[in-house]
Amino acid sequence: MEKINSLAVVGAQWGDEGKGKVIDYLASRADVVARFQGGNNAGHTVVYGANIFKLHHVPSGIINAGTLCLLGNGMVVDPLVLVEELTELEKRGIDTSNLRISGKAHLNMVYHKDLDEENEKLLGEKKIGTTGRGIGPAYADKIMRRGIRAIEMIDLERFRERLAGILPLQNRILKEIYGHAGYDLGRLIELYRPAIEKLGPMVTDGSQVLFECLNAGKKVLFEGAQGALLDIDHGTYPYVTSSSTVAAAAATGNGVGPQLVRQSLGVIKSYTTRVGEGPFPTEDHFEAGEQLRERGNEFGTTTGRPRRCGWFDSVIARYAAMINGLTGLAVTKLDVLSGMDTVNIAVAYRCGEVEIKNFPQSIEELKECTPVYETFPGWDEDISRVRSLKDLPAAARHFLNAMEESVGVKIELVSVGPDRSQTIIGQNSILESWIGHNQ
Ligand code: IMP
Repeated sequence: MEKINSLAVVGAQWGDEGKGKVIDYLASRADVVARFQGGNNAGHTVVYGANIFKLHHVPSGIINAGTLCLLGNGMVVDPLVLVEELTELEKRGIDTSNLRISGKAHLNMVYHKDLDEENEKLLGEKKIGTTGRGIGPAYADKIMRRGIRAIEMIDLERFRERLAGILPLQNRILKEIYGHAGYDLGRLIELYRPAIEKLGPMVTDGSQVLFECLNAGKKVLFEGAQGALLDIDHGTYPYVTSSSTVAAAAATGNGVGPQLVRQSLGVIKSYTTRVGEGPFPTEDHFEAGEQLRERGNEFGTTTGRPRRCGWFDSVIARYAAMINGLTGLAVTKLDVLSGMDTVNIAVAYRCGEVEIKNFPQSIEELKECTPVYETFPGWDEDISRVRSLKDLPAAARHFLNAMEESVGVKIELVSVGPDRSQTIIGQNSILESWIGHNQ
C-alpha cells in the first residue's frame, strides 16, 4: 500500500463538519500539524477521554506531546486570544512548547474586531453573519498592505513602530466612518505587551520548517478550517469567510509546493449544517431539521449560535470534491441519523423547469434551487459502539454506499461519536498507512 506522508484535511460543506475530531484522530499519528488559513473564527472541539478542548487557533495536534504545531502564513492570528488558548491548555497540563507561528502570518488586532462588528451593523439585513472575530478586516488589511505580520512580534519596538505607522489610518476609519472612539498607541502597546513577550519566541520561518520536515519524510497534516462553501472564491459569495479554505491553500498558506500536499481528505457530515446567512438548498425548517439540531447538538463552538440543519446534499459534496481535488471522504456524525424513519440525499437541484447536477456559480441562481431527494430507509440501532463497517446495520451501510456513489469519492473514514475511539476506518483505506506508519 502507498505510504502517505502528507495529507490535507478540509471541510467539504459549510464548516462544522467535525474536522476537529477527524484531525485529532489523524494528528495523533502526525509529526507536524500545520494550519493554513482562517483564525479564531474556527472552533474545533476535541474530546479526549474526560477532557473536552475547545480550540480556535491552535491545531488539534497540540494534545499529542512531540507533535510540532504550526500556524501558517495564510492565517490571521489574534495574539490576545491565542495567549488565552495557550494559558487554558497549560492549566490543564498540556505542553504548548511545540507551537510555532509563521512570521508571515498576519495579526488580527482589536480594531479588526470592531470593524467587523461595525460593518455587520451597517449592512443591517444584508449582514454576512460573521463570527465577529475580525477575520474579514484582518485579511482586508493584509491585501491592502497595511497589516502587521507575526514577525513584528519578535521585538516589541518593531511591533510599536509598525503599529504607529498604521494606527492613524485605522483610527480615521474607525472614527470617521463608524463613530468609534479609536485607540491610543501607548494603551495598545500595553495591551499587547504580554502577548508579544509570550508569542515572540514562537515565531519562525514556517516554509523552511515544513520544507525540511517533508523532505525528511516526516508526516505532515495540513489542518483546514471552515469549509468549501465558505471559500472566498468558490463559496456562496458574499456569504463566505475571507480566506481560501480549499486543499490547494494548504500549499500557499504554508509556503510549500502543491506536489508536497499528497492527499486531500474532505470531512463531510452525513447531513448538512450552516451558520450565518446565505442560501442553503437542503435546509429543513420542519421536524427533521429540528431533530438533527437536537440530536447532533448543532450549536456553534465559537459563537453558540444554533446551526441551520438539513439533509445530505451530494450536489455540494461533488462540487467540494472538484474544487479540492478530494482523494477521500471522512463521513462524520453517522450516529446522529440513528432513529430517523427515513433519510434523504439530495442528488440534484430543480431550478425552475430544469434539473441541475452541478453547483451554480451565483447565489441568485442557488436561491431558486430546490433539492431533488432520494429517500432511504433509516435504522434504529445505536451505532456509537460499532468499530467496523461490516457491523453497521444494513440500512446504514446502504446509506453510506449511496453517499459514496453520489459524490464519486471513496469513504476512507466514518465517525460514529465524538471520541477518538468512535472511528471506523474504511476497507483498504489509504489512511491505514497513515495510521500504521508510526505505530
Ligand atoms: P467570518 O469568517 O467570521 O468572517 O464569517 C463569515 C462566514 O463564515 C459566516 O457565515 C460564519 O458563520 C462562517 N464561519 C466562519 N468560521 C466558521 C466555522 O469555523 N464554522 C462554520 N462557519 C464559519
